[in-house]
Amino acid sequence: MRRLLILLLCLPTLVQAQAPAKPAKLGQCVACHGENGRSRIPGTPHLAGQDQAYLVAAMAAYRNGTRRAVPMNSIANTLQPRDIAALARWYSQQPAGGTR
Ligand code: HEC
Repeated sequence: MRRLLILLLCLPTLVQAQAPAKPAKLGQCVACHGENGRSRIPGTPHLAGQDQAYLVAAMAAYRNGTRRAVPMNSIANTLQPRDIAALARWYSQQPAGGTR
C-alpha cells in the first residue's frame, strides 16, 4: 500500500520526464517553422520528425557558415550548442506527416 502511494506521488514527475521540455529558444523559430515543426511558409522546410543528428548538423553548419542561407545564418549565430541540442531534440520528436 505504501509503495503504491509513493508511486502515485511520483507519477506526475515520471510523465513529465517523458515529454521533452520546450527549448528556451523555441520562440525564435515558431514564426517560420511552427512550434510543432510544420512550416506554413513556402520555402521554409518542415522540421517535425526530422533526424535529430541531421538537425544538429544543419544548425551547426548555419552557425559556422559552411551552409549559407538567409535568415538561418543570423538566427543560428544566437544559438549556443546546448540550444541547438535542445531544439534538434524537440523538433525530431514532433510527429511528422499530415497536411499543412
Ligand atoms: C524568418 C524565418 C525563419 C526563422 C525565424 C527560423 N528559420 Fe530555420 N529556416 C528558414 C528557412 C527559409 C530555411 C531554409 C534555408 C535553406 O535554404 O538552407 C530554414 C532552414 C532550417 C533548418 C534546415 C532544415 C533542413 O531540412 O535542412 C533548420 C534545422 C532550421 N531552419 C532550424 C531553425 C531553428 C531551430 C530556428 C529557431 C532558433 C529557426 N530555424 C528559425 C526560416 C526560418
